[in-house]
Amino acid sequence: MSGHGTPIPMTSRKCGPLTGEAHVPGDKSISHRSLILGAMAVGETVITGLLEGEDVLDTAKAMRAFGAEVARDEDGTWHVHGVGVGGFAEPGNVIDCGNSGTGVRLIMGAMATSPITATFTGDASLNKRPMARVTDPLALFGTQAVGRAGGRLPMTIVGAADPVPVRYEVPVPSAQVKSAVLLAGLNAPGQTVVIEKEATRDHTERMLGGFGAAITTEVTDEGRVITLTGRPELKPQTIVVPRDPSSAAFPVCAALIVPGSDVLVPNIGLNPTRAGLFYTLQDMGADLTFENMREEGGEPVADLRAKFSPDLKGIEVPPERAASMIDEYPVLSVVAAFATGDTVMRGVKELRVKESDRIEAMAAGLRANGVEVEDGPDWWIVKGRGHGNVPGGATCVSHLDHRIAMSFMVLGMATEAPVSVDDGSPIATSFPIFEGLMGALGARIERGSQ
Ligand code: S3P
Repeated sequence: MSGHGTPIPMTSRKCGPLTGEAHVPGDKSISHRSLILGAMAVGETVITGLLEGEDVLDTAKAMRAFGAEVARDEDGTWHVHGVGVGGFAEPGNVIDCGNSGTGVRLIMGAMATSPITATFTGDASLNKRPMARVTDPLALFGTQAVGRAGGRLPMTIVGAADPVPVRYEVPVPSAQVKSAVLLAGLNAPGQTVVIEKEATRDHTERMLGGFGAAITTEVTDEGRVITLTGRPELKPQTIVVPRDPSSAAFPVCAALIVPGSDVLVPNIGLNPTRAGLFYTLQDMGADLTFENMREEGGEPVADLRAKFSPDLKGIEVPPERAASMIDEYPVLSVVAAFATGDTVMRGVKELRVKESDRIEAMAAGLRANGVEVEDGPDWWIVKGRGHGNVPGGATCVSHLDHRIAMSFMVLGMATEAPVSVDDGSPIATSFPIFEGLMGALGARIERGSQ
C-alpha cells in the first residue's frame, strides 16, 4: 500500500505522439459515496464502474467494519448490504483510511450521530492533515473527538447518542466538510442545514436525493443553502459510477503537450462542479473538444478529444473556478510550463492541505526541472517556457501524493531530459492503471530512477 511499502521510483521520457483511447477508471468521489450511502441504506445497493483504487478499497473495508456486507463479483460488480441510517455497529478495531481524506472525513460524518465509538488512522500523509474542519461542526451534533495536537489523526470519535440537528456555514470551500455534516445530519431528528458560499462538488446532495432522502438546495444571497430532513429510510440503488474527470485530466493534459498527439477520453462526467480544468485549458488555447455530449444518470457526460496544442497561452485562472478544478492544479501547472507567458492561479489556499502541500510540491519539482515558479500563501504563478523549451532532468519528490507523482510523469513526456519521481506508489490510490494506460497511448514511463 502507498506509504506503507517500498517506494517505487519512476521515470518518464520524451515520447512520440500519444494516440488512441484512454478509458480512465471510475470517479473517486462518487465511488466513496456509493459505498457509504449503500451501507446506510436498507437492502442491497449494486455498483458498477467502482474505482478499485486503494482509497476506495479502504472505504469498502471500513464499511464492513461498521457492519455492512460488502462483496465484489468476479466481473467487478460490487454489492453493499446496508444496515440503515443509525444502524452502524461499533467497529472491533482501528479504522485505517490509508491516504484518503475523503474516506476518513465522510466516514466520521456518517458514524458521528450513532451511539458508537471508532478510532481512525491513516498513512503518514493523512495523519498530517487537519481534521478539526470536520470535528468542529460534528461537535454541534453532540459528537466528541479526541485526536493528536492540531486535530490530527489518529483520532477517536464518540458518536452522539442523542444528536440534535445543525445549521452550519462551511468556512472553507470543502465538499468533504459539507458531506460530513450532511451524512451526520441523516441520523439527527429534524432538518440539518449546510450553507456554502462557493459551490463545491455536489455528488453527496445528488446521491442523497437518489437514495430517497428529502434534500433541497436553494441559491440565496448567503450562498447555497442545503436542507436535509433527518432520519429518512434510504432506499438501495443501482449505481453506474461515471469515469473520473480528475483522472481524465492526465491523458488530456499529456496529449496537449506531446507533439502530434490525438487522444480520445470517452465517457467523462462534466458536472459543472468538477469540469473547471477543461474550460481553463480551452481558455489557454488547447485543442480540446467535447464530443457526443449527452446526459447519463442525471449528469452531463462527453467524450473528450485532446490534440497537441502548439499555441498554448498562459492565463489568469478565474479564482471563482478554483473549487471546480481544485484537484487539477498540479497537472495544470505542468501544461502551463509549455505555454507562453504566465499562468496565474489565485484563491487556492486549499492546495496547501491536500495529500501534500501541492503548491510547494509542484513548485519545487518544476523549479528543479528548469521552470520558474513564484508562490505565496494562496497563489502561485508558473512562468511558461513554450514548447520544446522545458529542460527536465531532475528527480521530484511526490510526498505520498498521487496527483503530484502523475503530474511529474506527464511533465517528463515533453521535457528535453527525463523527469523522475522518488515514489510513484501513491498513484495506486486513485489511478491504479495509470502506467499501463499511458504506456498504451505511447508514453515512456519506466520504473526506476534516471
Ligand atoms: C473531495 C473533495 C475535495 C477534493 C478531494 C475529493 C470529495 O476535497 O480535493 O479529492 O470527494 O468530496 P476538499 O473537500 O478538501 O476540498
